[in-house]
Amino acid sequence: MQNIHKTVEKVLYNRQEIENRIYELAQWVNKTYQNSENLILVGLMKGSMPFMMQLIKDVEIDCVLDFLTVSSYHGTTQSSGSAKIVLDMAQDIKGKDVLIVEEIVDTGLTLGRVTQLLSSRKPKSLKILTLLDKPSNRINEIRPNKIGFTIENHFVVGFGLDYNEKLRNLPYIGIFNKKFIDKV
Ligand code: IMP
Ligand code: MG
Repeated sequence: MQNIHKTVEKVLYNRQEIENRIYELAQWVNKTYQNSENLILVGLMKGSMPFMMQLIKDVEIDCVLDFLTVSSYHGTTQSSGSAKIVLDMAQDIKGKDVLIVEEIVDTGLTLGRVTQLLSSRKPKSLKILTLLDKPSNRINEIRPNKIGFTIENHFVVGFGLDYNEKLRNLPYIGIFNKKFIDKV
């Protein structure tokens, strides 16, 4: 058992709880896309990486992986209010079933921008799967199709979620102690 990182005030979900929930989310994918002939899972870099890698181990539908890099938070705990596509995906999604895999939906600005862009490319379907949802902080009314855990308005780190690009490697999800702002 690893020690809890000093910047983490409280662990919300441990490794086992996260893995169990992601297994259930993979079953949702299997059921939702059981008749799909062209499924593309699109992970938003870099935060969704651990989630995506855990998820696909239990996805039993043939699928293609792709990634999109969007910048929204610039090393702070507040949304910058805009989202920019930094690196586009490689696959053509026209006529395909696209599932966006995201680690957290906060203001919804990032997913607003991403869904606008991807729907303009005319996929057959476009859905959102997020590991975490912080609905109380919404600016853009984005509704994920499936959510792992709904949380209060805390700044969380671990399992892909960062503070200042760090702490993504923690195997659990915890509340970041704000007294460490600018100290990590
Ligand atoms: P939104 O555009 O405000 O919905 O923010 C989405 C992005 O902001 C997520 O993909 C994360 O990268 C980042 N983010 C939002 N809330 C948190 C948090 O609590 N911890 C770490 N990153 C977060
Ligand atoms: Mg993200």
